[in-house]
Amino acid sequence: MQSISFIGAGRVGATLATAFHRSGLPVSMIASRNLASAQKAATGLVGCSAVTLQQAAAADLVFITVPDDDIGAVASSLIWRKGQYVVHCSGATEIAVLETAARAGAITGGFHPLQIFSDPQNTLGLLAGSTAGIEGAPELESILRELAVRLGMIPMLLPPGSRALYHCGSVLTGTFLLSLLNEAVRAWTAFGIDEQQALRGLLPVARGTLETAAIKGPVGALSGPISRGDSKVVARHLRALEQLSAEQADLYRQLAGRQLEMARINGKLQEIQLTALKAVIEGN
Ligand SMILES: NC(=O)c1ccc[n+]([C@@H]2O[C@H](COP(=O)([O-])OP(=O)(O)OC[C@H]3O[C@@H](n4cnc5c(N)ncnc54)[C@H](OP(=O)(O)O)[C@@H]3O)[C@@H](O)[C@H]2O)c1
Repeated sequence: MQSISFIGAGRVGATLATAFHRSGLPVSMIASRNLASAQKAATGLVGCSAVTLQQAAAADLVFITVPDDDIGAVASSLIWRKGQYVVHCSGATEIAVLETAARAGAITGGFHPLQIFSDPQNTLGLLAGSTAGIEGAPELESILRELAVRLGMIPMLLPPGSRALYHCGSVLTGTFLLSLLNEAVRAWTAFGIDEQQALRGLLPVARGTLETAAIKGPVGALSGPISRGDSKVVARHLRALEQLSAEQADLYRQLAGRQLEMARINGKLQEIQLTALKAVIEGN
């Protein structure tokens, strides 16, 4: 592999370019809609220049790291050549979106770094140990696998057609955790705790829960009122949330309903407790 390029110098493009460069891979070109973004991403990467999109498209291995909705249009606007590798970094978008490159003889695939990229500096430290969702023909697959391993990532092969569900899982456990955290902060600010104080109190619970789930799995780690069959506590939560907003109470009901199923599988509650919880959750 003589040259690697990135098209799209945003959070993922700039972070992966830096990570690959640091692990000794030949990142030679970065292009973006605005040259200034490409120049910023290339700064400090010795041997790497900010170039036009078409120049970047000439590399041996091209990563298209533009927003999902633009991948197809960007790929269609460029000239590709036989034998080169063209890869996007989306989790949910199918590889077929790169069909223009495939028609020109390029070998197309996907390399999805399964991590949050809202703070690139932080993400650089999180890549090792994270998974990379990989898809492509065998020859490309083994190259992408090797790249993942170079970054300390765990390669995971994605069967064709699986990307929407795969990415859904990543959103549920990634960014949707932020939605839950935000709901918890809102509940606390309602009785006068500011966001900083709330995060200080709540984040250790979130971390502890995740660490326990890593050991015991989500069902095995179950704790809290539903796991104990404390239906009166659940009723108290719901009454308090209903005073705040119907939406927050609805969200709690949905999550509690799903957790009741986990408690059933966990097998520690008696049928009478499960029935009482169900009645409270459903408001009967
Ligand atoms: N964010 C995450 O947590 C994450 C995680 C894994 C995978 N991904 C995937 O990575 C890809 C990029 O996501 P991102 O979060 O890095 O997006 P982003 O931060 O919005 O960056 C996208 C970059 O693409 C450039 N761009 C937009 N339209 C373009 C075009 N028509 N031609 C050339 N460049 C264009 C923009 O550059 P300018 O600055 O030049 O305008 C922008 O900086 C997506 O497929 C996403 O699904 C994201």
